[in-house]
Parts: sequence; C-alpha cells; structure tokens
Amino acid sequence: MTTTKLWQIHDEAGTEMGTRETADKAIAEAAGLLVQGETVAFPTETVYGLGADATNSAAVEGIYRAKGRPSDNPLIVHIADRSQMDTFAEGTPAEPLRRLMDAFWPGPLTVIVPVRAGAVSPLVTAGLSTVGVRIPDHPVALALLRAAGCPVAAPSANSSGRPSPTMAEHVADDLGGRIGGIVDGGPTGVGVESTVVEWASGAVYILRPGGVTAEQLREALPDVPVREPVRTGEPAGTPRAPGMKYAHYAPKGSMRVVLGDDPEAVAEWMRRDLDAAKARGERTGVLTYDERRGLHHADAVISSGRLAEPETIARGLYAALRQFDREGATYILAEGCPDTGIGRAVMNRLLKAAGQEVVRV
Ligand code: TXA
Ligand code: MG
Repeated sequence: MTTTKLWQIHDEAGTEMGTRETADKAIAEAAGLLVQGETVAFPTETVYGLGADATNSAAVEGIYRAKGRPSDNPLIVHIADRSQMDTFAEGTPAEPLRRLMDAFWPGPLTVIVPVRAGAVSPLVTAGLSTVGVRIPDHPVALALLRAAGCPVAAPSANSSGRPSPTMAEHVADDLGGRIGGIVDGGPTGVGVESTVVEWASGAVYILRPGGVTAEQLREALPDVPVREPVRTGEPAGTPRAPGMKYAHYAPKGSMRVVLGDDPEAVAEWMRRDLDAAKARGERTGVLTYDERRGLHHADAVISSGRLAEPETIARGLYAALRQFDREGATYILAEGCPDTGIGRAVMNRLLKAAGQEVVRV
C-alpha cells in the first residue's frame, strides 16, 4: 500500500473549487509525481485515465501492477500538442488519419500509428510496432500534460475488468492505496472511451467504437472507406484492438442484455425471468432508461440515461453498472439501446459487460 494523494479541483457537480492558484499548484504537484515515475489518475473528457511517463518503463510497469492489467494489452499515449508526436511516432501519419486528427483533436479519438523504435517504453506498445495516441479534450488533462512535458501513457483508471471510472470516487474505490495520486476534476463528460482507429489497406478501421461515432468519421472522410469492428454473430477478419478480447466493464453480478422492438414485450419477458431469478434467491437488477423505468420491477432498477438523448446514456453507463455492485445485485438484465451514433459504443460496452450473453424477445 502507498498513500494516494488526492487533489480536488472540481466538486461532484463539476463546479470548480478553490482559487486558480490552488488549482495550478495541484496540477504542478501531480505533474511532479508523473515526472518522478509515479502513477497519477486524471480526468479526461471520456473516462478517468491512470497516467505514467510513457518513456519510463518502471513507471509504466506501475500502471499494469496497479490495475492488474494483462501485459499484452497496449496503452494509449496522451499528449497536449500534436508536435509531441514527432518524438515517438515513426514518419508522418497516413493522410486520412491526419484529416481525422484535424477534425477531432482534442477529442475522443485515438489513432494507431507506427512507433519510433525505443521512443516509448515497450510496455506501452505491448511489443507492437504501433502506438495509440490522442489529445484529450479536458482542461485538467491538458494542463497536467503540459506541466509534465512528457508523453503520458494512460489506460482507463479502473481495476482491470471493472467498469471504467467516470468520477474520481470510482478511481479511489478501485485503486486507492495502489497509485501515487488522483486529480479530481469532477465527473467526465462523454462517459465511454475514445474511438480507436487504424489505417490499413486503403481503409480506416474502427478497432473500438467510442466517443467519436462512425457517422462522424464518415462525414469527415467522405471519400475513404470506414470499416467497423465485427459485431456479435458476424464473421471475424478485421483487425481489432488487443484489449477488445478481454472481459471488461462487468458488474459483479451476472448480466444479460435483452433486445427487442416492443418495449412492453421486453419488459414482460424480463418480469417473468426476474421472478424466476428471485425465486432462486437472486438479488435482481434491471438496467434501463428514464423513459422505461415505470415498466420494470426488480430489487434495483437503475437508469443509465434518456433514450431521447443517447449521449446521456453514454455519460451514465459506467456509474450505473457500478451501482449494481453497491446494491448487491447478483442477477442483472440490461435493456439494449439503438445501435447507432453513440449507441454503438454503448452497446459494445454492454455486450462486453454481459460476456456477450444476449436474449432476443
Ligand atoms: O478514452 C480513452 O481512450 C481512455 C482515456 C483514459 O484516454 N483510455 C482508454 O485506455 O480507454 P484503455 O487502455 O482502457 O484502452 C486502450 C485500447 C485497448 O483496447 C487497446 O488494446 C487499444 O486501445 N490499443 C492501444 N494501443 C494499440 C495499438 N498499438 N494497436 C491496437 N490497439 C491498441
Ligand atoms: Mg479500459
């Protein structure tokens, strides 16, 4: 156990606390820890990241140790300014990727580019010849990255396998006592991780759906094919992010995703299935949406957000999944949402949280 330092810059509602000077001092201290080779969690616009100096193997090793992360799952490098890429990217990124950087940085887009040999720790790339990089769109993250000056490797700041943290409290629950510090910048905005893209054989491949939607990528690149990852039941064959094979985002209880076009029929099927679970002695949970709350009965009925505003679902998803653990739910049914726009990333995470267990009603 180490003592984890906490700097509170925003409160739970995202309101700035203290003065500008105290915030600047907090950032300077947190950056100091990073430069010394410690791990520091910080907010980004997607989820909280657990950062370490990407050029320092001992520091990066600290990330894997604190998270219990498999060592074959590479990390994303975070920078404040595009010019920093010159120090660790090999050559100029492919032209379509450069257009995406122009369109979406700073923002929830990670591009995979060839890595310059020896420029970042081999632990960051998990031995691959490529590296993922992004500029986060969050004032605290950008200030920290500028103050640290080094490229910062940062996976989501959760214990491996758990839902990603969207609040500093989630980070403390998972990693308190295991990392150097936590910069509390209030709740994150997007709520699901960045979209990871790669350029290969004349197309942009989405390796992980995320905060930038496929529709947005196509709009930015009308003349370039944008290919999406294989979904449940589809044949494999596209390149994928190594991390996508691991179970992830899961609450402690068992979870299934329920799909169907008729909300009443879905709710009716869920009611019967949950009654049976209850009779077996399970503590039941339902993950639903504000508009559907009234249709459900379970020990814990939790809404991730409003179907009418899908970005609220993305924002609330991981906190909702964590809430089931607090409620002690052992058997959870999650209602699916439309698989378009940001809903694509939400469904990707829900299916992973459920270990791909799907029921169609
Ligand atoms: O929004 C985000 O991306 C957050 C915040 C903290 O920036 N970070 C994040 O990191 O989600 P992590 O480690 O939880 O997910 C990184 C994903 C994994 O699926 C990993 O396999 C993939 O990116 N990845 C990283 N480097 C890669 C590479 N060189 N080639 C292919 N996939 C890569
Ligand atoms: Mg993660």
